[in-house]
Amino acid sequence: MSGEHGGQPFDSAKWKRLESEERLAKMPPSALAEAMALQGSETVVDVGCGTGFFAEPIARRCNHYIGVDHSAEMLDVFRKKSFISVLGNISLERAKADRLPIGTDVCDIAFHVALLHEIPDLVAFHDELKRVLKPQGRLYAVDWKANETEGGPPLDHRVSRERAVELLERDGFEIVDQPDIYADQYVIVAKPRS
Ligand SMILES: C[S@@+](CC[C@H](N)C(=O)[O-])C[C@H]1O[C@@H](n2cnc3c(N)ncnc32)[C@H](O)[C@@H]1O
Repeated sequence: MSGEHGGQPFDSAKWKRLESEERLAKMPPSALAEAMALQGSETVVDVGCGTGFFAEPIARRCNHYIGVDHSAEMLDVFRKKSFISVLGNISLERAKADRLPIGTDVCDIAFHVALLHEIPDLVAFHDELKRVLKPQGRLYAVDWKANETEGGPPLDHRVSRERAVELLERDGFEIVDQPDIYADQYVIVAKPRS
């Protein structure tokens, strides 16, 4: 199924693109981990985690990292990573983004990267994120800026920063920050509106 914004599902055969040296240099996962200002006690869910490109620096700084993806192939690549057994606080779950296998009010942080354009029903997705987040929890929504970049989905499939803010506010989130940490992607930090 294509996303609400016309995006096509990610082709898992192309997973190596997500792990490239170029991506690591342009979009270091540690920058997102630092922006989260983790204290070590948090439960963090990475929705649409893919191969776990963002997992290691975040899992190192939190209590429990949960990676969720609907693709068995992507999770298989992730499961082979050696840091999983070293860190011992990583759980991987195969599930849809709008049916997370997580209890209510469990997560301190939910985040997703390069996912929005693939989600068929953003209202249901946002409702699910609000359900799993603690009342004081934070969502980090990270996605492609809607301007020409090297790589990334076609421009007309992207959910722009402005549209993402509009959708989050429509769906019961309050925007608390927009740290400028990546050249080609925006980061929106939001909390459930009380
Ligand atoms: C472009 S990849 C990004 C992966 C990872 N977030 C990263 O930035 O490296 C998008 C991922 O979202 C997953 N995905 C897409 N739609 C999903 C859905 N509805 N539920 C769960 N996972 C989904 C895909 O299988 C894929 O692994």
